[in-house]
Amino acid sequence: MFAIFLLCLVGFTVAQQPKPCTTPPQWEANVFDSNDQSRFRVRGRLSYDANNHRERLVEEVEVGSEDNFYDVIALFDLQMEFVYDFKARNCTRRPLTRPWRDFGIRPDARSFGEAYVGTSAVPGLGLLVTLWGGNHTTPSNDTVRTFGTWTYHACLPVSVISHSSQYGRSQTSFFDIVAGISDPNVFIPRPECLTEKEYAMRHVLFGAQGKKMKK
Ligand SMILES: *[C@@H]1O[C@H](CO)[C@@H](O)[C@H](O)[C@H]1NC(C)=O
Ligand SMILES: *[C@@H]1O[C@H](CO)[C@@H](O)[C@H](O)[C@H]1NC(C)=O
Ligand SMILES: *[C@@H]1O[C@H](CO)[C@@H](O)[C@H](O)[C@H]1NC(C)=O
Repeated sequence: MFAIFLLCLVGFTVAQQPKPCTTPPQWEANVFDSNDQSRFRVRGRLSYDANNHRERLVEEVEVGSEDNFYDVIALFDLQMEFVYDFKARNCTRRPLTRPWRDFGIRPDARSFGEAYVGTSAVPGLGLLVTLWGGNHTTPSNDTVRTFGTWTYHACLPVSVISHSSQYGRSQTSFFDIVAGISDPNVFIPRPECLTEKEYAMRHVLFGAQGKKMKK
């Protein structure tokens, strides 16, 4: 009898600890990104591909009082980044040293339960979200504390706040998410960013299976 009771109790405790949901690996969203330490604010359209670790962000960057416009393609598996500057109309290619930012919930994150953004009192005025937080150490030995909200249904990111000993506090908010990648060529750099030879080979180098480029 006692054993059954204990079993029920264990079952209850296990059920109480929710498992992180799985964020879709490919989507596009409007994002607001800000960092207090480097005083930058970014507003842009993000294409996110967690399957191939790449992102494209067409962005307006505000650093202090200066406004700039960039088109950034970050290919994390190739450790390469292409930054097209709309004002200067030129492209910079640089090695990518920062780690891939995954906007899914970390498997070791701790649940802070569920809540409504807005209200649950009136139908249609609330968004049910799930809250997660945690601490982790990056490969560069940076200690990062994160807290984020994801939609309860579909597990889409709503907002992620992180506090790192290296980079300070940053916050990313997501709006108007659309599933999938609308343009399969979105991760192919502009001609300004590539040599003629590379541009001719762009689909092989940067297409859907574009992982053939030498580092
Ligand atoms: C792009 O143009 C800006 C402004 O003219 C200049 O400062 C920068 O060095 C240029 N970058 C490249 C990669 O040519
Ligand atoms: C993360 O670490 C901080 C400071 O060490 C601690 O206060 C906090 O409770 C931790 N959070 C989680 C979710 O483990
Ligand atoms: C990482 O940082 C901690 C303290 O912040 C330090 O004790 C440790 O030696 C560091 N490890 C490496 C590999 O740098």
